[in-house]
Amino acid sequence: MNKPENHILVIFGASGDLTYRKLIPAVYDLHKQNLLPEKFAVLGASRTKLTDEKFRDKMKDGIKKYSNFKNDDGKMIDDFLNLLSYISVDTENPENFNSLKSYLTKLDGELGTNGNVIYYLSTPPSLFVQDSGEGRWTVQTAIDLDVPAHIITSSLFNRFQSRQNESFAMKMLAALRNEFGGHAVKKSGTE
Ligand SMILES: NC(=O)c1ccc[n+]([C@@H]2O[C@H](COP(=O)([O-])OP(=O)(O)OC[C@H]3O[C@@H](n4cnc5c(N)ncnc54)[C@H](OP(=O)(O)O)[C@@H]3O)[C@@H](O)[C@H]2O)c1
Repeated sequence: MNKPENHILVIFGASGDLTYRKLIPAVYDLHKQNLLPEKFAVLGASRTKLTDEKFRDKMKDGIKKYSNFKNDDGKMIDDFLNLLSYISVDTENPENFNSLKSYLTKLDGELGTNGNVIYYLSTPPSLFVQDSGEGRWTVQTAIDLDVPAHIITSSLFNRFQSRQNESFAMKMLAALRNEFGGHAVKKSGTE
């Protein structure tokens, strides 16, 4: 299997349950199977103030409980934990994105990941599902700060599209999101 391109994975909502129980254990499983890029890092972001060390300790606990390789010795897990760091960010405070950008630029330069960043939103649905402006604001700010945000931009445009078309695929997507993620389904014209 081909390894993905070098990149940094930014997880918003890194102090939360999904990151602890599912995301980091799954990324560790990829590491264990040598399926991560040559140059790779995870940057956790959420409001809680945590040192890198505290974040790594918590993620180690998650790996030991939920990874498919939970019985690995400490050394193998510790090697992986060195790829993790943490920054305190409140996504509702635009100024916090400047520190995030500085941190990412520095990390990208050190690692040589060519500006490739994947953003994973593991935050409460209220922060990004409803179109109360956060999506538009995020895309606009990403443009202003030269931050690539392909997935968020694409999600926003899909949301616009879903309002315009009587689309079976979009209804199916809404139903799947409702069943698996608990996200609300609203009739058009009720927002
Ligand atoms: N847990 C699961 O098994 C599961 C399964 C399927 C889908 N999901 C979906 O995954 C998402 C995360 O779920 P979760 O269970 O991990 O929720 P959670 O435990 O409540 O975590 C939410 C995270 O978002 C952060 N956050 C909240 N407001 C923020 C803000 N303004 N700026 C930055 N970070 C903020 C919180 O950290 P701070 O308070 O430190 O900011 C926390 O890290 C939700 O959309 C949920 O519906 C979860």
